[in-house]
Amino acid sequence: MTIGEDLRALEAESLTAVEGATTLDALEEVRIAYLGKRGSLTAILRGLGALSAEERPEVGRISNEVRRALESALDRRREALERTARASRIAAEAVDVTLPGRARPLGHQHVLHQVVDEIVEVFSGLGYRVAEGPEVELDYYNFTALNHPADHPARALQDTFYARDLSGDTAVVEGESDVLLRTHTSPGQVHVMESEKPPIYVIVPGKVYRRDVADPSHLPQFTQVEGLVVDEGVTFGDLKGTLEHFVREMFGPDRRVRLRPHFFPFTEPSAEVDVSCGICGGEGCRSCGGEGWLEILGCGMVDPNVFGYVGIDPERYTGFAFGIGAERIAGLKYGVPDLRHFIEGDTRFLHQF
Ligand code: DAH
Repeated sequence: MTIGEDLRALEAESLTAVEGATTLDALEEVRIAYLGKRGSLTAILRGLGALSAEERPEVGRISNEVRRALESALDRRREALERTARASRIAAEAVDVTLPGRARPLGHQHVLHQVVDEIVEVFSGLGYRVAEGPEVELDYYNFTALNHPADHPARALQDTFYARDLSGDTAVVEGESDVLLRTHTSPGQVHVMESEKPPIYVIVPGKVYRRDVADPSHLPQFTQVEGLVVDEGVTFGDLKGTLEHFVREMFGPDRRVRLRPHFFPFTEPSAEVDVSCGICGGEGCRSCGGEGWLEILGCGMVDPNVFGYVGIDPERYTGFAFGIGAERIAGLKYGVPDLRHFIEGDTRFLHQF
């Protein structure tokens, strides 16, 4: 066989190998086998130098043809294989848009937070500012500065969560520096009056804690919104008008407000406030226990003794305060007879709001 025939045989063989390659990797192997540094066509081309001057042009021409034929066969085959690979990748990645979707459950604001926001909005509309106080308090703020005498029953261990020395059975420190979970948001009043001068118009929403076992009308943790106004010439009439406005905004224009004399250590005079029952309109029914009225908050005129603790002149200023039970308001607004629903986190209940 002449070199020319060898070359043609190699050409035929290599073209068959190209067609037989079914993957890009196999094709690359074919390329290396013929055109790589140690490939068989490369070896022949390298041997050209040893040929005689007459043979060289002819063999040179044939080997160039063979190389070009092989190279273009490789190119075509590579394109074809790439096309197939792309097509199958696209087929594999295809999304079936007819499959049913997966719904993700969407949460929303808790009903109590909604109600607190509504209360805040009513008072914001009257120009009140929102303040916050700590949930872990000192006895001084929770009781002493709110005019509770040392032997006041609310200070008893049965009512208040105290931080205790775990090594013993006594409170860490006896007295005003005792640490406790606030039993009401009223200490917020003291913090505000310590750091601001009148005129003061604030509300303090927040969580409060009492050593109660949860039942339909008691929770060990519940929510209050405290209100405090201190200014010159503030009267009990201002307090009443403010609360009437609040009740109508919250429950509608037909609801009436009733104030009953009461006692709180930090207000004098004090009152409890009832709203007329939304079901019977005041006639008395099962949902208001036959009373026609439902209690929603405590209030009163700031006791001058409290002003004494925070250095506000009681001769110049007067003020009123109130504490709204948010669970009470939410319960009345939505007819929820058992307050425990509000803290149990049952989404079947919560989804309704
Ligand atoms: N702190 C009282 C409580 O938790 C509620 C209260 C009553 C707050 C009268 C007040 C107030 O600001 O003036 O029972």
